[in-house]
Amino acid sequence: MSDVWVFGYGSLIWRPDFPFEEARVATVAGWGRRFWQGSTDHRGVPGAPGRVVTLIKDPQSVCWGKAYLISAESREEVIDHLDYREKGGYSLHQTEMTFLGGPQECADGLIYIATPGNPNWLGDAPMPEIAAQVRASEGPSGLNTEYVTELARALSEMGADDPHVFDLARHVARAGRDDQA
Ligand code: SIN
Repeated sequence: MSDVWVFGYGSLIWRPDFPFEEARVATVAGWGRRFWQGSTDHRGVPGAPGRVVTLIKDPQSVCWGKAYLISAESREEVIDHLDYREKGGYSLHQTEMTFLGGPQECADGLIYIATPGNPNWLGDAPMPEIAAQVRASEGPSGLNTEYVTELARALSEMGADDPHVFDLARHVARAGRDDQA
């Protein structure tokens, strides 16, 4: 087995819990990030799912994320670990990534995507409804609001623009202020 890149665009950006050789900011073209996947094992529970990100095909979009280089020696163990972590509807796919900065510009990588029709798929909803669901949800990995705010923080640190994520983060923060008023 050889080294392999894994591209993360959700919690894998800000909570990598596996050994890697190198991490690089990268993009994948033709995919848009959306809070359209239900989470019953991390940020919600069965019967009261939270909302987490997946990717939808969108020729106009470029999705920013973090690419991790996994060594050949730890590849099997890391992929087993990630298959378990991402078991709530995600399947493993291959993608071409473009690195931002550095010598090598492109590489193939692995990516976890929750495709429409998986058992936890929620799909689109008006932004205030998505925000309300996020504010109401909590699961074994913690509050759903933390997932949104950590993702928005990590993306802005990377210099990424993602209107869907930043809009949701604003809605979630605004609803929090209203609750305190
Ligand atoms: C990812 O981060 O790449 C997959 C979705 C998630 O675990 O939040």
